[in-house]
Amino acid sequence: MERVNRVVVIGTGFVGSSYAFAMLNQGVADELVLIDLNKDKTEGDVMDLNHGLPFAPSHTKIWHGDYSDCKQADLVVITAGANQKPGETRLDLIEKNAAIFKSIVHDIMANGFDGILLVATNPVDVLTYMTWKFSGLPAHRVIGSGTILDTARFRYLIGDYFDVDTRNIHAYIIGEHGDSELPVWSHANVAGKSVKELIRGSNTYQMEDLEKLFINVRDAAYHIIDRKGATYYGIAMGLVRLTKAILHNENAVLTVSTFLSGQYGQEDLYIGVPAIINRAGVREVVELGLDPDEQEKLHHSSELLKKTMNALDG
Ligand code: 2OP
Repeated sequence: MERVNRVVVIGTGFVGSSYAFAMLNQGVADELVLIDLNKDKTEGDVMDLNHGLPFAPSHTKIWHGDYSDCKQADLVVITAGANQKPGETRLDLIEKNAAIFKSIVHDIMANGFDGILLVATNPVDVLTYMTWKFSGLPAHRVIGSGTILDTARFRYLIGDYFDVDTRNIHAYIIGEHGDSELPVWSHANVAGKSVKELIRGSNTYQMEDLEKLFINVRDAAYHIIDRKGATYYGIAMGLVRLTKAILHNENAVLTVSTFLSGQYGQEDLYIGVPAIINRAGVREVVELGLDPDEQEKLHHSSELLKKTMNALDG
């Protein structure tokens, strides 16, 4: 019998339901289970999504489930929790969301789950670390969405600046998914030509423009939240990209929040770095040779995350 891929989504707020919609549109999973405390909303979502099935590229069985559905799941995606209000940082959410996560992860594991956990709730790096601890799963099977979206925003804006398709831009945002993240300019390239090289001697392209571009990436969520109260389409598509890399065993390089045990000179934390993703989870961390300035910024970002986690313990 052919293998059936089951994905469970916990949390059907803006991010979870947008993820479900994007999953359906791309025909990624055979089974998609939605779980949320708000039963009416989730039932409504399931009905609404089912009505789109005749227009989808392949069949997906969707239902409103409960934690017992996690047992057979290949992947559980957690998007539940409070999101930022205008003016709030991601780290401000830690108290509220840490408490919710303890019980969610307990309920997933108590039902015999043995797949991969993907965390999207903020502050994602801290919550992914906690999920790993609470779950008892090996670190490579607990992944956070990390800087996947920041990297997408970065590639989009660089593509726009150089007027080249964003898919031909190779560049990473690493560090905290939040205010202390950093761009890796030393490895940013447009179809193989380094961004630094493109700027050198050019009258059209300037490093100051690119520095502003990074500020726009870093602050993008604030700009969106000010305008529409939440961000969800971009992250939903990023989560689908990750889901495909996992279920289709792609060995794709994506910037995720993953556990570092010495890579980049950092250890015992989850933070956004490029990693090779496949059916087993994180196959390996891609360790870029950073400039001293980038290394210093990554260190600062790591310290900030550790401080947030320690404050929670205390
Ligand atoms: C984002 O970056 C709020 O973390 C969310 O869009």
